[in-house]
Amino acid sequence: MAKLELQNLTKAYSQKIVPVKDLSLSVEDGEFLTLVGPSGCGKSTILRMIAGLDQPTEGRVLIGGKDVNPLAPGDRNIAMVFQSYALYPHMSVQQNIASGLKLRNLASGDIQKRVQDASRVLGLDPLLDRKPAKLSGGQRQRVALARALVRNPDVFLLDEPLSNLDALLREQVRADLKQIFEDQQSPVVYVTHDQTEAMTLSTKVAVLSDGYLQHLGSPNEIYKTPANRFVASFIGSPQMNLISLERVNNAVLLGDSKVDLPANLPAKSSVIMGIRPEHLRLPREGDHQIVQGNVFLVENLGMSDLISLRVHGDENLTLRALLPSDATWSRENLKLALPPESIHWFDTQTEARLN
Ligand SMILES: Nc1ncnc2c1ncn2[C@@H]1O[C@H](COP(=O)(O)OP(=O)(O)O)[C@@H](O)[C@H]1O
Ligand SMILES: [Mg+2]
Repeated sequence: MAKLELQNLTKAYSQKIVPVKDLSLSVEDGEFLTLVGPSGCGKSTILRMIAGLDQPTEGRVLIGGKDVNPLAPGDRNIAMVFQSYALYPHMSVQQNIASGLKLRNLASGDIQKRVQDASRVLGLDPLLDRKPAKLSGGQRQRVALARALVRNPDVFLLDEPLSNLDALLREQVRADLKQIFEDQQSPVVYVTHDQTEAMTLSTKVAVLSDGYLQHLGSPNEIYKTPANRFVASFIGSPQMNLISLERVNNAVLLGDSKVDLPANLPAKSSVIMGIRPEHLRLPREGDHQIVQGNVFLVENLGMSDLISLRVHGDENLTLRALLPSDATWSRENLKLALPPESIHWFDTQTEARLN
């Protein structure tokens, strides 16, 4: 089948603009890899190199074990879906879906069968005779997806395909995408700046920043043990609390509260402590690491309240915590437990994970 491999890929547009730096990774058949990172971190450049729309400055792209660097985009059997749907305005939905196939000399019966299959999967059957102008944004994106699916490509590439949809529709199409690609055998590389999409869709996530691969792992791995401070702050919503603290013997002081460091942590004079808002909780019996403070902001998220706490003993120290909306607590002198197993420790200088 068609495993995709990127070997030491680098793209330099000039000495100063190097959006992709020595990237190596592979995507197996049936895997869904998401490249996620802030705008400008090199995601689209990586896709363009896989598709052959851009030549790497260094490194190789292999599909099914074959070096495709010398191949033109049209010879790579790749299907690409963009943020802008790029449909032909004068063609019907049916013709748009089939347009990816016409160029490949397929029998017309075969074309029809593939178009029918894809339009059924994407719920486009009632729309086959319409022109794109008569479709909503979500429907247009489905047509673009159907056009990619009918091609039966060796590799699927999707570049922020949901960005033009409003929030509600984005959630629906995201769920559709997940179902559709669970049944596909070819590797998928999906680009987004949205960490929720990365977490929900992928079997594997590559977090990128500044052209470098920061962490490659399953959604669970990058959520539970982020490799560095950047990954910790980028993945997870609301964002992880990250605080630089001086070390005092084998602990740090969080305002008036003491937080023990794990025994195996390297000897550093300062550390960055991280804890996710969803892991700070109202104390239970047996909790011994407690932080206390005053709540100065409550944001109602429906299922839970996102509270901001000013920590006693340090005016500048705030923590955000998610508390179930049916919990009872007081804004003054609120105590929250810091479960030791939920705390992340990072190096102040290198920002790499320490525990
Ligand atoms: N053709 C080009 N010439 C020069 N710089 C480019 C070109 N294409 C992209 N870049 C730069 O490369 C960086 C990464 O771009 P891109 O891969 O599009 O980022 P992303 O998709 O992650 O938002 C950006 O700083 C962008 O300005
Ligand atoms: Mg992009």
